[in-house]
Amino acid sequence: MKELIKLVDEYLDRYMEIAYPEDIFKAMKYTLMLPGKRLRPVMCLETARILGADIKKLLPSACALEMLHVQSLIHDDLPCMDNDDFRRGKPSNHKVFGEANAVLAGDALLTYAPQLIIEKSTELSSTQILRIIHEYTKFAGAYGLIAGQVVDIESEGGKLTKSAKETLDFIHLNKTAVLFRLAVRMGAIGAGADDDTIEEFDNFAKKFGLAFQIYDDIMDEISSFEELGKTVGKDKNSGKLTYVSLYGLEEAKRKFRFLIKECYDIIEKYRSQVFTEILDKLSSRIDD
Ligand code: IPE
Ligand code: IPE
Ligand code: MG
Ligand code: MG
Ligand code: MG
Repeated sequence: MKELIKLVDEYLDRYMEIAYPEDIFKAMKYTLMLPGKRLRPVMCLETARILGADIKKLLPSACALEMLHVQSLIHDDLPCMDNDDFRRGKPSNHKVFGEANAVLAGDALLTYAPQLIIEKSTELSSTQILRIIHEYTKFAGAYGLIAGQVVDIESEGGKLTKSAKETLDFIHLNKTAVLFRLAVRMGAIGAGADDDTIEEFDNFAKKFGLAFQIYDDIMDEISSFEELGKTVGKDKNSGKLTYVSLYGLEEAKRKFRFLIKECYDIIEKYRSQVFTEILDKLSSRIDD
């Protein structure tokens, strides 16, 4: 896991060169290079490795995925969204570079990511690149992440058009699980996996993503700024619809554990140290 994180950090730094006009490239690089967990790129590379590919092939896709994720974080923290002043232990992007540059840095990451995949994936076939780009655009936009964020914001005012349970699952599956699905799907496509295998990993990532957002909701309630590097207690203050607000802390923990158990069961046969480490780490924090 550590080696994969190191590799991702090294390539992110290499791919994100500072050019003219420096302000925008510096804003893009600022949040990108702060110490995130790198879960999505690591899961992309590990899926590719498990399925027999040389992970180098997937480095542009893995880094693009982290850029897309960071775009979502920069925009998520804006005053018009969650209005968060801290991210990854440091002031949020708009606090350092101003709102206009934070909006533009997000847009620039969102568009540079697929550019990077196309320019640097020299060891993938054109068909694989096309398929990866198609999945990227589908999951990043209004059919994925953006849909989740829109309903998340709408939920603050209690403006629901479906039941709270349905709405909450829609939010979590779209704002969070889609990026984990994209991660494993890119890895599997790059490894030349068949459709059944892609769907098996997709199913794993869907459950993992849901569990991960429940974990994040729980952490917002029980953790600290020192541990998370972001403001805690915000979900409750802004009246967000979360697993904790809808089901209570204990039921949220129970749902988390159930999903994580399902994840272990799906991934077990691949004997992946990296996936086991990720699942162990998350569950150890909730069990105590
Ligand atoms: C934060 O994701 C946003 C959520 C989906 C909850 P991470 O917890 O993976 O954030 P970083 O990348 O480690 O900063
Ligand atoms: C995470 O939602 C989803 C995205 C950032 C797209 P949150 O709003 O809960 O994430 P944090 O808690 O700010 O990291
Ligand atoms: Mg949010
Ligand atoms: Mg937020
Ligand atoms: Mg959160």
